Amino acid sequence: MLKGDMVILRSPVVGDAEALSEYLRDREVFSALQGSVYPVTEQDMRNFIFFISDRTVPLSEINLTICLHDGTVIGMCALHDFTKRGTAQIGFWLGRRHWGHGYAREAVALVSRMALERLGVKRLYAVSAASNSRSERTLSSLGFKKVRAGPGGKDLIKMVLTR
Ligand SMILES: CC(C)(COP(=O)(O)OP(=O)(O)OC[C@H]1O[C@@H](n2cnc3c(N)ncnc32)[C@H](O)[C@@H]1OP(=O)(O)O)[C@@H](O)C(=O)NCCC(=O)NCCS
Repeated sequence: MLKGDMVILRSPVVGDAEALSEYLRDREVFSALQGSVYPVTEQDMRNFIFFISDRTVPLSEINLTICLHDGTVIGMCALHDFTKRGTAQIGFWLGRRHWGHGYAREAVALVSRMALERLGVKRLYAVSAASNSRSERTLSSLGFKKVRAGPGGKDLIKMVLTR
């Protein structure tokens, strides 16, 4: 569990599925998660949480539910695409009604610190649509710097935080 002043990040539980799937029915939130395979229906979200909670399945990613201190589920943050070279990617999203309070900023700060200080990540990447200025603001406020998105990435922004 990661604890900040405003948010707590913890392992997802099946009871999170109702709120999380409701937030993902917002087209803008869902479409920002390009390349991710987030489920949309509540049942799909329950299955996804069962799958990622099953300790017998080796997973190469870490998914955390973002909550407020009163337990309200507000979104998710994930670390994935770990490489032996010490790179990994971070993804994050909040239900729209929870935007504009600094919750994502705090959640991404906590998960980035864990990645860089405890998981051996040297370069942490985040990729979002070039038009996603909210995501860019969150990341740059935490010290992520823009880098070339690479071939096929002309509509994408890639940002990196280095240890
Ligand atoms: C990207 C996303 C998480 C950003 O959410 P957000 O709430 O704007 O992000 P932050 O937590 O950084 O909050 C910043 C906003 O909170 C405000 N804020 C209020 N209190 C604050 C505080 N204590 N600390 C910091 N910011 C605070 C800031 O002024 C800023 O508002 P503004 O953008 O209107 O100026 C959200 O838009 C989202 O879920 N989008 C869809 C998914 C997505 O794009 N994910 C990223 C790619 S993986």
